Amino acid sequence: MTTDATGTQVTEQAVDSLRATADPRLRELLTALVRHLHDFARETRLTQGEWERAIAFLTATGQACTDTRQEFILLSDVLGLSMLVETLHGHHTPGATESTVLGPFHLTESPVRELGDDIDLVGGGEPCVVSGRVRSADGTPLPGAAVDVWQADDQGYYDVQQPGVQPAGNGRGLFTADAEGRFWFRTCVPAPYPIPTDGPVGGLLRATGRHPYRPAHIHFIASAAGHTPVTTHIFVAGGDYLDSDAVFAVKESLVQDFAETDDPSLAREFGVPNPFRHARFDLVLEPAP
Ligand code: BEZ
Ligand code: FE
Repeated sequence: MTTDATGTQVTEQAVDSLRATADPRLRELLTALVRHLHDFARETRLTQGEWERAIAFLTATGQACTDTRQEFILLSDVLGLSMLVETLHGHHTPGATESTVLGPFHLTESPVRELGDDIDLVGGGEPCVVSGRVRSADGTPLPGAAVDVWQADDQGYYDVQQPGVQPAGNGRGLFTADAEGRFWFRTCVPAPYPIPTDGPVGGLLRATGRHPYRPAHIHFIASAAGHTPVTTHIFVAGGDYLDSDAVFAVKESLVQDFAETDDPSLAREFGVPNPFRHARFDLVLEPAP
């Protein structure tokens, strides 16, 4: 037997071992994974010690996961993989709202709220109105569309990060668009915040000299009958970290002006003190395929 210093033999054997995989997509994914992993080790001349460190890192990442914390998703986020997958399978109808990552702070059961309600239950931040319309890509309004909203407070914390400090449901709401597809609610202007850094992913950020911050944003999931739901955020224009989001989730079309508004009659209409900040943003859904 000839020597095989570059390991091509073990690569072919490992690929060959997958040939009987019944599910063709699983076979395709595993075959490509083995080839890319082996090429990675060859290209970098990965050492035994480095491989052991990588295994220890992945083990710690798994051990950091709990019912309320998903360190593997966070790892995928900071490596840009979550955003890449999102981009590959996002919406491509011209004019439809672009999608971005879901993130770990969404609750499957947001508190149901009335249009115009204030989701800032604490009232500490800069008053702000968010309003817009849910419509189909051809412009047709979507009455009764569901608009699920969640955001950090003006200090950069989600309610679930501060139990006992923030009331449950602070910064969250599930709204139903009116007969013309319109939605509006009151809140405070969110602040940028760091993703969790007390686990292995935080160590990775420190080792690579990266900051952990996300630019200020409000999350949305909009859904309506006959349409594909969109998971997205709006980002506060002019804020910090828009060009260095720790999870690479900023898309230009999602950066929105939270305009300083000095209009006493509009303030009265929305029930906010004048002046206030106002973000106007339409959620445009693709018809379901
Ligand atoms: C978020 O925006 O909630 C988020 C997204 C990815 C990682 C951490 C937080
Ligand atoms: Fe967030």
